[in-house]
Amino acid sequence: MVRRLCIFFLLQLLYATTCALEKGDQVDLEYFSRRCPPERCTGGSTEIRYPFRLESSHPYCGSTGLALSCSGDRTILPLPSLPPALTLSVVSINYSIGVLTAKLDGPSCPLQYINLLNFSASSYSLMHTTDFITVNCSSRINYSSDGSSSMNIAGPISCLGGGPDSIYAVDSFSYMDEMPPYCIMISDSVSLPQKLEDSMQVFDLTSLINAFTQKMEIELDWTMRDETKRQCVVCEFSGGRCGFSQARSQVVCFKTELHGMISIVTSDLC
Ligand SMILES: *[C@@H]1O[C@H](CO)[C@@H](O)[C@H](O)[C@H]1NC(C)=O
Ligand SMILES: *[C@@H]1O[C@H](CO)[C@@H](O)[C@H](O)[C@H]1NC(C)=O
Ligand SMILES: *[C@@H]1O[C@H](CO)[C@@H](O)[C@H](O)[C@H]1NC(C)=O
Ligand SMILES: *[C@@H]1O[C@H](CO)[C@@H](O)[C@H](O)[C@H]1NC(C)=O
Repeated sequence: MVRRLCIFFLLQLLYATTCALEKGDQVDLEYFSRRCPPERCTGGSTEIRYPFRLESSHPYCGSTGLALSCSGDRTILPLPSLPPALTLSVVSINYSIGVLTAKLDGPSCPLQYINLLNFSASSYSLMHTTDFITVNCSSRINYSSDGSSSMNIAGPISCLGGGPDSIYAVDSFSYMDEMPPYCIMISDSVSLPQKLEDSMQVFDLTSLINAFTQKMEIELDWTMRDETKRQCVVCEFSGGRCGFSQARSQVVCFKTELHGMISIVTSDLC
Protein backbone atom coordinates (compact mmCIF):
# COMPACT_ATOMS: atom_id res chain seq x y z
CA MET A 1 0.00 0.00 0.00
CA VAL A 2 2.70 2.41 1.02
CA ARG A 3 4.59 1.49 -2.11
CA ARG A 4 1.58 1.99 -4.31
CA LEU A 5 0.92 5.34 -2.69
CA CYS A 6 4.52 6.30 -3.32
CA ILE A 7 4.31 5.41 -6.97
CA PHE A 8 1.03 7.25 -7.28
CA PHE A 9 2.56 10.27 -5.60
CA LEU A 10 5.60 10.12 -7.86
CA LEU A 11 3.46 9.97 -10.96
CA GLN A 12 1.45 12.90 -9.69
CA LEU A 13 4.66 14.79 -9.19
CA LEU A 14 6.10 13.98 -12.56
CA TYR A 15 3.26 13.83 -15.00
CA ALA A 16 -0.33 13.64 -14.04
CA THR A 17 -1.96 12.98 -17.35
CA THR A 18 -1.54 11.21 -20.61
CA CYS A 19 -3.86 12.72 -23.16
CA ALA A 20 -4.82 11.67 -26.60
CA LEU A 21 -3.58 14.10 -29.17
CA GLU A 22 -6.10 16.80 -29.89
CA LYS A 23 -6.29 18.61 -33.17
CA GLY A 24 -4.51 21.66 -31.76
CA ASP A 25 -1.74 19.44 -30.39
CA GLN A 26 -1.19 17.87 -33.80
CA VAL A 27 -0.69 21.29 -35.34
CA ASP A 28 1.55 22.28 -32.46
CA LEU A 29 3.66 19.18 -32.75
CA GLU A 30 4.11 19.63 -36.47
CA TYR A 31 4.96 23.30 -36.00
CA PHE A 32 7.48 22.52 -33.27
CA SER A 33 9.14 19.71 -35.24
CA ARG A 34 9.40 21.86 -38.35
CA ARG A 35 10.65 24.95 -36.60
CA CYS A 36 12.90 23.28 -34.02
CA PRO A 37 14.35 20.09 -35.50
CA PRO A 38 17.28 18.47 -33.62
CA GLU A 39 20.50 20.23 -34.60
CA ARG A 40 24.24 19.65 -34.55
CA CYS A 41 27.24 21.87 -35.09
CA THR A 42 28.52 21.09 -38.60
CA GLY A 43 30.45 17.82 -38.26
CA GLY A 44 29.70 17.73 -34.52
CA SER A 45 28.68 14.59 -32.68
CA THR A 46 26.31 16.04 -30.07
CA GLU A 47 22.65 16.19 -30.96
CA ILE A 48 21.06 19.38 -29.69
CA ARG A 49 17.35 19.26 -29.04
CA TYR A 50 14.83 20.63 -26.57
CA PRO A 51 15.40 21.86 -23.82
CA PHE A 52 18.73 22.79 -25.46
CA ARG A 53 19.01 24.84 -28.62
CA LEU A 54 21.68 26.54 -30.69
CA GLU A 55 22.02 30.28 -30.16
CA SER A 56 21.22 30.71 -33.84
CA SER A 57 17.78 29.13 -33.51
CA HIS A 58 14.58 30.71 -32.23
CA PRO A 59 14.41 31.18 -28.41
CA TYR A 60 11.20 29.16 -28.45
CA CYS A 61 13.21 26.08 -29.51
CA GLY A 62 14.92 25.78 -26.15
CA SER A 63 14.44 26.44 -22.48
CA THR A 64 15.88 29.53 -20.76
CA GLY A 65 19.63 29.46 -20.18
CA LEU A 66 20.34 26.35 -22.25
CA ALA A 67 21.55 27.88 -25.53
CA LEU A 68 24.76 26.40 -26.94
CA SER A 69 26.97 27.70 -29.72
CA CYS A 70 29.30 26.25 -32.34
CA SER A 71 32.98 26.79 -32.98
CA GLY A 72 33.77 24.70 -36.04
CA ASP A 73 32.58 21.21 -35.17
CA ARG A 74 32.80 21.87 -31.44
CA THR A 75 29.66 22.52 -29.43
CA ILE A 76 30.38 25.30 -26.94
CA LEU A 77 28.72 25.92 -23.60
CA PRO A 78 28.91 29.70 -23.04
CA LEU A 79 30.02 30.58 -19.51
CA PRO A 80 30.45 34.32 -18.88
CA SER A 81 32.87 33.78 -15.98
CA LEU A 82 35.48 32.25 -18.32
CA PRO A 83 38.01 34.49 -20.12
CA PRO A 84 37.92 34.23 -23.95
CA ALA A 85 41.01 32.01 -24.09
CA LEU A 86 39.21 29.25 -22.18
CA THR A 87 36.17 27.44 -23.48
CA LEU A 88 33.93 24.64 -22.34
CA SER A 89 33.13 22.28 -25.18
CA VAL A 90 30.32 19.79 -24.87
CA VAL A 91 31.44 16.15 -24.87
CA SER A 92 27.96 14.65 -24.57
CA ILE A 93 24.44 15.35 -23.41
CA ASN A 94 22.52 12.57 -21.74
CA TYR A 95 18.92 13.77 -22.06
CA SER A 96 17.41 10.92 -20.11
CA ILE A 97 19.39 11.43 -16.90
CA GLY A 98 19.94 15.17 -17.23
CA VAL A 99 23.73 15.23 -17.37
CA LEU A 100 25.88 17.31 -19.70
CA THR A 101 29.58 16.43 -19.86
CA ALA A 102 31.88 19.27 -20.92
CA LYS A 103 35.62 19.62 -21.38
CA LEU A 104 37.68 22.64 -20.43
CA ASP A 105 39.81 23.50 -23.46
CA GLY A 106 42.98 25.48 -23.34
CA PRO A 107 44.76 25.60 -20.02
CA SER A 108 48.02 23.80 -19.33
CA CYS A 109 47.45 24.29 -15.59
CA PRO A 110 43.69 23.80 -15.17
CA LEU A 111 43.82 24.09 -11.36
CA GLN A 112 44.64 27.73 -11.83
CA TYR A 113 41.24 28.30 -13.38
CA ILE A 114 38.80 26.18 -11.47
CA ASN A 115 37.54 29.15 -9.47
CA LEU A 116 36.40 30.54 -12.84
CA LEU A 117 34.16 27.52 -13.34
CA ASN A 118 31.44 29.41 -11.52
CA PHE A 119 27.96 28.27 -12.49
CA SER A 120 26.03 30.17 -9.85
CA ALA A 121 24.57 32.63 -12.35
CA SER A 122 23.85 29.93 -14.96
CA SER A 123 21.21 27.25 -15.47
CA TYR A 124 23.79 24.57 -14.68
CA SER A 125 25.30 23.20 -11.53
CA LEU A 126 28.36 21.03 -10.97
CA MET A 127 27.25 17.59 -9.90
CA HIS A 128 30.15 16.44 -7.71
CA THR A 129 32.90 18.48 -6.17
CA THR A 130 35.61 18.29 -3.52
CA ASP A 131 36.65 21.53 -1.86
CA PHE A 132 40.28 22.35 -1.28
CA ILE A 133 42.48 25.29 -0.32
CA THR A 134 46.02 25.98 -1.49
CA VAL A 135 48.89 26.42 0.92
CA ASN A 136 52.43 27.75 0.54
CA CYS A 137 55.01 25.71 2.43
CA SER A 138 58.51 26.85 3.29
CA SER A 139 59.88 23.36 2.65
CA ARG A 140 58.89 20.23 0.80
CA ILE A 141 56.37 18.04 2.60
CA ASN A 142 57.79 14.62 3.36
CA TYR A 143 54.63 12.51 3.39
CA SER A 144 56.26 9.51 5.00
CA SER A 145 57.73 11.36 7.98
CA ASP A 146 55.49 14.38 8.52
CA GLY A 147 52.37 12.46 9.36
CA SER A 148 50.73 14.21 6.42
CA SER A 149 48.53 12.05 4.31
CA SER A 150 48.37 12.16 0.53
CA MET A 151 44.72 11.30 1.11
CA ASN A 152 44.10 14.92 2.04
CA ILE A 153 47.11 16.75 0.62
CA ALA A 154 48.25 16.86 -2.99
CA GLY A 155 51.43 18.31 -4.39
CA PRO A 156 53.73 19.99 -4.74
CA ILE A 157 51.84 21.53 -7.68
CA SER A 158 54.54 23.50 -9.46
CA CYS A 159 52.28 25.18 -12.01
CA LEU A 160 50.46 27.10 -9.27
CA GLY A 161 53.47 29.40 -8.80
CA GLY A 162 55.95 29.78 -5.99
CA GLY A 163 59.01 27.56 -5.89
CA PRO A 164 58.85 24.04 -7.35
CA ASP A 165 58.24 22.55 -3.88
CA SER A 166 56.08 25.12 -2.20
CA ILE A 167 52.42 24.97 -3.30
CA TYR A 168 50.07 22.19 -2.18
CA ALA A 169 46.33 21.56 -2.27
CA VAL A 170 44.73 20.55 1.03
CA ASP A 171 41.25 19.14 1.48
CA SER A 172 39.14 21.94 2.99
CA PHE A 173 37.63 19.72 5.64
CA SER A 174 40.90 18.44 7.01
CA TYR A 175 43.40 21.22 6.63
CA MET A 176 43.28 22.26 10.30
CA ASP A 177 44.46 18.82 11.39
CA GLU A 178 46.63 17.87 8.49
CA MET A 179 48.51 20.95 7.46
CA PRO A 180 52.18 20.99 8.52
CA PRO A 181 53.09 24.01 10.66
CA TYR A 182 55.50 25.36 8.05
CA CYS A 183 52.68 25.94 5.53
CA ILE A 184 50.34 28.92 5.27
CA MET A 185 47.00 29.10 3.58
CA ILE A 186 47.06 31.29 0.46
CA SER A 187 43.62 30.80 -1.08
CA ASP A 188 40.00 30.48 -0.13
CA SER A 189 38.33 27.17 -0.64
CA VAL A 190 37.66 26.28 -4.29
CA SER A 191 35.58 23.42 -5.69
CA LEU A 192 37.32 20.74 -7.71
CA PRO A 193 34.83 19.23 -10.18
CA GLN A 194 34.65 15.46 -10.15
CA LYS A 195 33.03 13.01 -12.50
CA LEU A 196 30.55 10.64 -10.94
CA GLU A 197 32.65 7.58 -11.80
CA ASP A 198 35.63 9.15 -10.02
CA SER A 199 33.67 10.32 -7.03
CA MET A 200 32.59 6.72 -6.42
CA GLN A 201 35.98 5.08 -6.93
CA VAL A 202 38.59 7.61 -5.96
CA PHE A 203 38.87 9.19 -2.55
CA ASP A 204 42.33 10.67 -2.19
CA LEU A 205 42.87 14.25 -3.19
CA THR A 206 45.95 13.51 -5.31
CA SER A 207 44.03 11.06 -7.52
CA LEU A 208 41.01 13.35 -7.75
CA ILE A 209 43.22 16.21 -8.88
CA ASN A 210 45.00 13.95 -11.37
CA ALA A 211 41.68 12.73 -12.76
CA PHE A 212 40.58 16.31 -13.32
CA THR A 213 43.84 17.62 -14.78
CA GLN A 214 44.18 14.67 -17.16
CA LYS A 215 40.66 14.73 -18.63
CA MET A 216 39.58 18.27 -17.73
CA GLU A 217 36.01 17.02 -17.95
CA ILE A 218 33.15 18.18 -15.78
CA GLU A 219 29.61 16.92 -15.36
CA LEU A 220 26.77 19.41 -15.13
CA ASP A 221 23.18 19.06 -14.07
CA TRP A 222 20.74 21.40 -15.80
CA THR A 223 17.61 20.46 -13.84
CA MET A 224 18.40 21.61 -10.30
CA ARG A 225 16.98 25.08 -10.56
CA ASP A 226 14.02 24.42 -12.83
CA GLU A 227 11.09 22.08 -12.55
CA THR A 228 10.17 22.19 -16.25
CA LYS A 229 13.67 21.12 -17.23
CA ARG A 230 13.33 18.20 -14.86
CA GLN A 231 10.06 17.28 -16.59
CA CYS A 232 11.98 16.95 -19.85
CA VAL A 233 14.41 14.49 -18.27
CA VAL A 234 11.52 12.41 -16.96
CA CYS A 235 9.97 12.55 -20.43
CA GLU A 236 13.12 11.37 -22.22
CA PHE A 237 13.75 8.73 -19.56
CA SER A 238 10.36 7.22 -20.35
CA GLY A 239 11.06 7.23 -24.07
CA GLY A 240 9.36 10.48 -25.06
CA ARG A 241 10.52 13.65 -26.71
CA CYS A 242 10.23 16.94 -24.97
CA GLY A 243 9.03 20.09 -26.67
CA PHE A 244 7.13 23.29 -26.17
CA SER A 245 3.48 23.67 -26.95
CA GLN A 246 2.37 27.16 -27.84
CA ALA A 247 -1.29 26.23 -27.60
CA ARG A 248 -0.87 24.89 -24.08
CA SER A 249 1.88 27.40 -23.32
CA GLN A 250 3.91 24.79 -21.49
CA VAL A 251 6.50 22.06 -21.85
CA VAL A 252 4.99 18.85 -23.17
CA CYS A 253 6.17 15.32 -23.66
CA PHE A 254 5.34 13.74 -27.02
CA LYS A 255 5.27 9.99 -26.96
CA THR A 256 4.87 7.53 -29.79
CA GLU A 257 2.78 4.66 -28.47
CA LEU A 258 2.01 1.29 -30.02
CA HIS A 259 0.82 1.42 -33.64
CA GLY A 260 2.51 4.80 -34.11
CA MET A 261 -0.13 6.67 -32.14
CA ILE A 262 1.28 9.82 -30.67
CA SER A 263 0.14 10.88 -27.25
CA ILE A 264 0.94 13.92 -25.25
CA VAL A 265 1.86 13.97 -21.59
CA THR A 266 1.40 17.15 -19.61
CA SER A 267 1.34 18.20 -16.00
CA ASP A 268 -2.19 19.53 -16.49
CA LEU A 269 -5.52 17.98 -17.28
CA CYS A 270 -6.19 17.35 -20.94
C1 LIG B 1 22.56 7.99 -20.14
O1 LIG B 1 22.97 7.53 -18.88
C2 LIG B 1 22.39 6.28 -18.52
C3 LIG B 1 22.80 5.98 -17.08
O2 LIG B 1 24.18 6.12 -16.93
C4 LIG B 1 22.84 5.22 -19.51
O3 LIG B 1 22.24 3.98 -19.18
C5 LIG B 1 22.43 5.63 -20.90
O4 LIG B 1 22.92 4.70 -21.84
C6 LIG B 1 22.97 7.01 -21.22
N1 LIG B 1 22.43 7.44 -22.51
C7 LIG B 1 23.22 7.87 -23.48
C8 LIG B 1 22.53 8.28 -24.75
O5 LIG B 1 24.43 7.92 -23.37
C1 LIG C 1 30.44 33.05 -8.38
O1 LIG C 1 29.80 34.16 -8.99
C2 LIG C 1 28.90 34.85 -8.12
C3 LIG C 1 28.25 35.95 -8.93
O2 LIG C 1 27.79 35.49 -10.15
C4 LIG C 1 29.65 35.39 -6.92
O3 LIG C 1 28.74 36.02 -6.04
C5 LIG C 1 30.36 34.26 -6.20
O4 LIG C 1 31.14 34.78 -5.16
C6 LIG C 1 31.26 33.51 -7.17
N1 LIG C 1 31.82 32.35 -6.49
C7 LIG C 1 33.13 32.08 -6.51
C8 LIG C 1 33.55 30.86 -5.78
O5 LIG C 1 33.92 32.79 -7.10
C1 LIG D 1 61.38 11.54 4.50
O1 LIG D 1 61.27 10.91 5.77
C2 LIG D 1 61.78 9.60 5.84
C3 LIG D 1 61.47 8.99 7.21
O2 LIG D 1 61.83 9.90 8.23
C4 LIG D 1 63.30 9.65 5.56
O3 LIG D 1 63.86 8.35 5.58
C5 LIG D 1 63.54 10.31 4.18
O4 LIG D 1 64.92 10.47 3.95
C6 LIG D 1 62.84 11.67 4.11
N1 LIG D 1 62.95 12.18 2.75
C7 LIG D 1 63.33 13.42 2.46
C8 LIG D 1 63.37 13.79 1.01
O5 LIG D 1 63.64 14.21 3.34
C1 LIG E 1 55.34 31.35 -1.05
O1 LIG E 1 56.16 31.79 -0.01
C2 LIG E 1 57.44 32.26 -0.48
C3 LIG E 1 58.32 32.52 0.74
O2 LIG E 1 57.60 33.15 1.76
C4 LIG E 1 57.23 33.49 -1.33
O3 LIG E 1 58.46 33.97 -1.83
C5 LIG E 1 56.33 33.11 -2.51
O4 LIG E 1 56.03 34.26 -3.28
C6 LIG E 1 55.04 32.49 -2.01
N1 LIG E 1 54.30 31.99 -3.17
C7 LIG E 1 52.99 32.18 -3.33
C8 LIG E 1 52.39 31.64 -4.60
O5 LIG E 1 52.30 32.76 -2.51
